[in-house]
Amino acid sequence: MRQTLFIFIVLLSILLSCGKDEAPSEMGGDLTLFPYQPESYDLQIPEGFPQMVIPADNPLTVAGVSLGRHLFYDPILSVDSTQSCSSCHLQAANFTDNLAASTGVDGITGNRSSMTLLNIGFHNTGLFWDGRVMTLEEQALLPVEDPIELHDSWPNVERKLRRHSMYPKMFREAFGIERQEDISRDLAVKAIAQFERTLISSGESKYDRVVAGEAVFTDQELDGFEIFFDINEDQSQHAECGHCHNAPLFTTNEYFNNGIDAVESLADFTDLARGKVTGQRFDNGAFKVPTLRNIEFTAPFMHDGRFSHMEEVIDHYATGGNPADNLGAVMRPLSISEKNKAALLAFINTLQDEVFLQNPAFSSPF
Ligand code: HEC
Ligand code: HEC
Repeated sequence: MRQTLFIFIVLLSILLSCGKDEAPSEMGGDLTLFPYQPESYDLQIPEGFPQMVIPADNPLTVAGVSLGRHLFYDPILSVDSTQSCSSCHLQAANFTDNLAASTGVDGITGNRSSMTLLNIGFHNTGLFWDGRVMTLEEQALLPVEDPIELHDSWPNVERKLRRHSMYPKMFREAFGIERQEDISRDLAVKAIAQFERTLISSGESKYDRVVAGEAVFTDQELDGFEIFFDINEDQSQHAECGHCHNAPLFTTNEYFNNGIDAVESLADFTDLARGKVTGQRFDNGAFKVPTLRNIEFTAPFMHDGRFSHMEEVIDHYATGGNPADNLGAVMRPLSISEKNKAALLAFINTLQDEVFLQNPAFSSPF
């Protein structure tokens, strides 16, 4: 008797746990019982920032951003439920993973370092270190099936989302779909892109507050500011950084060879990067200029994480970089003093934006 009761309880609990991820079966896939009342999401863009170009077919809504945030943090997008986008894009690390190269669900490590998603909605000249995709929607399709990232398949992820206890209602609220079967990869990536477009600087970094007239630089920071933007009187102390890492985003989002690799010819770069995308030899070894906002939190630095400390980065630029036909035109040996290198670093530190790193709206909803 006891034995039968035990088996009964075991069976019952298996049955109940199976049902846990299923949407209520009596709904038969019909989602129209849930209201669809889209409310547009109000982006907070700091003074002086450019307009964000948002695709006409994917306006931001409160429900869409919330869905995207859940998907971004949910390991349901990976084959073995161990990784999510956030595994390699951590808020505390300014949405990078602090590794030279990232490792996916199968333990395979790629060749490139994770990139920050700070202000990613303003990147209109291509995404990834080589700019091989143009939109966030397109980009978000890739990690799910990438063998060195989440390594699942979209048909499988769509199945998991359709029978989930929470997502059908959230897709309804975000996109007005009527049936569970309408949940698709296209809507999932639209939601993720909506969330990513909200990842904007707070405008509370010391630099932004100085620009807004709410704070003042120390003498050292001011020296660094002038060196960074080549506006100090002593031309021998110009550092040329601002040409490529220009305000307000601290990147022009262009592609350059900044001379970190020694090569005999343009065919010799181990990572052809931009050149592989455009097919132009002159673009070989050119990478997207990363933002320097919150840069301290994203170490190690460069596409392959070769430098661990900002001092090494500055020393690299001081050499003028390895010569090449396509070396960025403003790259040249610098003669800035040690004192001014420290000033440059102090200025770069004013780009720290802890409010962004701690914004609860960007953290895991789980
Ligand atoms: C295994 C680690 C890993 C996972 C998981 C991952 N990423 Fe990435 N992400 C990277 C790496 C590495 C790069 C740079 C790759 C390159 O340039 O080839 C990158 C680049 C990006 C970029 C381009 C940023 C820019 O400035 O151009 C975006 C956007 C992005 N990831 C979003 C996502 C989203 C959304 C997900 C989840 C669907 C995700 N990532 C999952 C490691 C990861
Ligand atoms: C010719 C354009 C150019 C100039 C000038 C330039 N940079 Fe860069 N910077 C780049 C590019 C391109 C990269 C990415 C290269 C890579 O990863 O292979 C980069 C990367 C960096 C990184 C690493 C960012 C990361 O996310 O890993 C830092 C830090 C940096 N630059 C700081 C500076 C400073 C400081 C100066 C001035 C002394 C400067 N840069 C001048 C183009 C430039």
